Amino acid sequence: MTSNGIRDLTDEQARAALPLKWGAVEEGVLPAWVAEMDYHPAEPIEEALVAAVRRGSLGYAPFGSGGLGEAFAGFAERHWGWTVPPEAVLPTSGVMTGVRLALEALCPPGPVVVPLPCYPPFRDAVAVTGRELVPVTLDPDADEATLDLDAIEAAFAAGARTFLLCSPHNPLGRVWTRDELTALAELAGRYDARVVADEIHAPLVLPGATFTPYLTVDERAIVVTSASKSFNIPAVHGAQLVLLDPADREAFARLPIPAQHDWSSLGIVAGVAAWRDCDDWHAALLGRLAAQRDLLADLLAEHLPRARMRPLEATYLAWLDLRAYAADPAAVALAHGVRLAPGADYQPGLDGHVRLNLATSPERLRRIVHRVATALTSEASSLEE
Ligand SMILES: Cc1ncc(COP(=O)(O)O)c(C=O)c1O
Repeated sequence: MTSNGIRDLTDEQARAALPLKWGAVEEGVLPAWVAEMDYHPAEPIEEALVAAVRRGSLGYAPFGSGGLGEAFAGFAERHWGWTVPPEAVLPTSGVMTGVRLALEALCPPGPVVVPLPCYPPFRDAVAVTGRELVPVTLDPDADEATLDLDAIEAAFAAGARTFLLCSPHNPLGRVWTRDELTALAELAGRYDARVVADEIHAPLVLPGATFTPYLTVDERAIVVTSASKSFNIPAVHGAQLVLLDPADREAFARLPIPAQHDWSSLGIVAGVAAWRDCDDWHAALLGRLAAQRDLLADLLAEHLPRARMRPLEATYLAWLDLRAYAADPAAVALAHGVRLAPGADYQPGLDGHVRLNLATSPERLRRIVHRVATALTSEASSLEE
């Protein structure tokens, strides 16, 4: 089905196209867990990749960014009014690889401050670099889950000099305001701390919110981003760092081959097409995701009125508090044919919460909510008996 230029995948197509999201569930189970969209990628990306393969472009990636810098700078200027010097953009294979390399090669030693709940590999990135993680809480019950500046300052005062920011935030769907980010930057400046900002979800800011690129408030920060999430192309492994300081760029370029060489020339081809040629598709995507957000709110009001959905300002990953229905709603949902991401994956203790991926067709989202509602309302009535 096509609407507004977004081509929905049928179940059969999705199973072939998305082997992780659909392959990790048994036939008949609807997957609403990992962050991939049940949509066919944009045509300009498909055409660029097919043409590259046809001309035999399967060699190593070039030195430099291969045009990724110019393409990303164009996107940043058109969408966020942010002027990025193309030479500040350095390719890497994935955002999590980039975050790890930033911690290893560019950040001061010592503990890393991470707001929780967080995207689970953030914890792993801190662990594999041998750092201690200092958690600061983002309260999923708060009307506006905001950065706890007092807790962050206490962590800096105790010696931490690195902060790992997810902007916009996965899993809470928040878009930090310029004021919030400016306050963080001011604090980081006072303690000479460095902020690593994962901005992979920035192109997925939905109508109603405004994205502030973190480097526009803190030039010393390290940004890691990619077209992979918003254009549904993680297979091609093309991410990038944005480093405004030439000394950072030199340090990054000096990394030895076993640490940093495995970005893909196809990732560059796809990344250039995504940032440069896909504005129409991207606009249609945001329209579709905003409609899915509204549909999910309506479905919850009708079928699960005691569910609480956090305001979804960005991403296609809705955070739901289902404690009114079950202690472990993700397990109950899975037993009834829907795979959700359990809240405890993002922070131990958040068992009554789930993250639901709504980047699918309206019809499939209805099926997902109907199944979850049937499962949870029978669970809740058995608890009440
Ligand atoms: C916040 C965040 N960072 C990074 C990633 C993964 O990026 P990559 O596959 O490029 O490592 C994801 C994937 O969902 C994500 O949500």
